[in-house]
Amino acid sequence: MAQIRVKSIAWQGTQIGFTRACQQFLVLHKFELVYQRVKLRRQGETMRIGIVGAGKIGQLRARSIKEHGTTELRAVLDVSAESARKAVARTQALPLTNPEEFFGTAMDAVIISTPVHTHEELCLKAFHNNFHVLCEKPLSNTVESCQRIVDAAVAADRVLAVGFNLRYYPFVSFIKDSIDSGTIGDVDHIRVFGGHEGLPKFACEWEYKAPISGGGALMDVGIHMTDLARYFLGEITEVVGIATEKIWHVEGSEDNAVVLMRNPEGIPAIYQATWSEWQGYECYVEVYGNRGMVRGSYAPMKNILITQDEPGAPRKKKTIYYPDILVKEKLFSWQVTALKSFKQELGDFVALINGSTETSIADGYAGLRSVEVAAAVRQSSENREVIHLPVLGQMQRG
Ligand SMILES: NC(=O)c1ccc[n+]([C@@H]2O[C@H](COP(=O)([O-])OP(=O)(O)OC[C@H]3O[C@@H](n4cnc5c(N)ncnc54)[C@H](O)[C@@H]3O)[C@@H](O)[C@H]2O)c1
Repeated sequence: MAQIRVKSIAWQGTQIGFTRACQQFLVLHKFELVYQRVKLRRQGETMRIGIVGAGKIGQLRARSIKEHGTTELRAVLDVSAESARKAVARTQALPLTNPEEFFGTAMDAVIISTPVHTHEELCLKAFHNNFHVLCEKPLSNTVESCQRIVDAAVAADRVLAVGFNLRYYPFVSFIKDSIDSGTIGDVDHIRVFGGHEGLPKFACEWEYKAPISGGGALMDVGIHMTDLARYFLGEITEVVGIATEKIWHVEGSEDNAVVLMRNPEGIPAIYQATWSEWQGYECYVEVYGNRGMVRGSYAPMKNILITQDEPGAPRKKKTIYYPDILVKEKLFSWQVTALKSFKQELGDFVALINGSTETSIADGYAGLRSVEVAAAVRQSSENREVIHLPVLGQMQRG
């Protein structure tokens, strides 16, 4: 009996020790963040950021600003006062429901994470007030609207970035490194896929019902994949595709799109965006070179790299798993990975504002081109024609 009691005291002791260690770690972590912020404020380098839209993504965006170290959350605007309050928790930031008050706040930049059909009005207001903008994907629900946002950014000489955060996922960075380092040789063609099971995935009509959403699978899960195709191809200048609405019958919202695209050098990408994927959410990119192939997929996150000295030579295969990500996503959710990518993207947004040209962040042209491609596929499908698009390149300020 006495032995059991001694063991129980020892166990309690261990528990208290563990709890204390956790508390001390959290205090130190908080101290580190405050120290970083004070240091940067002294150097006059803290970027003051506001958020419009404090839903699922906006709450994560708020956390990314709070935890980043070089940024300060100044205000959050939402039509729901409760959502705005939740996003500013443990900060001095203002929770607001009045747009005039929000856009009148002294800030450097805003992140727009509201439903897509509200993006244009909010982006234009932000540029009118001289703020840089990071807007969630898709940039807007029509090509014309995206163009107006891009034009407003240029006229205001402000940075426009688009939230294609998948660029920061490790499986994508691995592909980019394999191409840039020449590991797979010269790129010959690309294969891209993005899909999920469709309508049951959506909580609100604005997420899938055209014309509010701007379209179907190509504007939803596909928009990230179109961006990745362009990220790896450099540019997309030719599009031919077939879009269908035979599964869910939502007018204007394709539930499947099968697409061929080409960059100006003639390198093709074969691409499918779908809302009828039987095994749930999945996306992958395969890049084939003349000396190998690199594949990246999610979820779960995985890379495969196959290399050979020349076509027909013996192959070496390497598979990369991400057990830490797998475990964190199982224990918590996909939000852990998304939050990490938002922090990296935020760092690049700040760097872009400060004049860096070496970032991975998607600019306004990336946002525009991805919506142009979605529109081109629908046009190509309707008229059975090849759509040609001009080279956009990188967006310049001013
Ligand atoms: N980067 C990604 O991987 C990713 C993933 C999901 C969604 N998104 C995008 O993020 C955006 C938001 O999506 P979500 O899932 O967070 O939606 P959500 O419905 O959870 O949140 C939207 C929020 O915006 C608020 N809102 C709506 N209209 C507003 C207005 N005019 N002014 C102020 N607030 C307003 C709502 O009250 C709500 O709190 C969308 O553009 C969506 O496409 C991006």
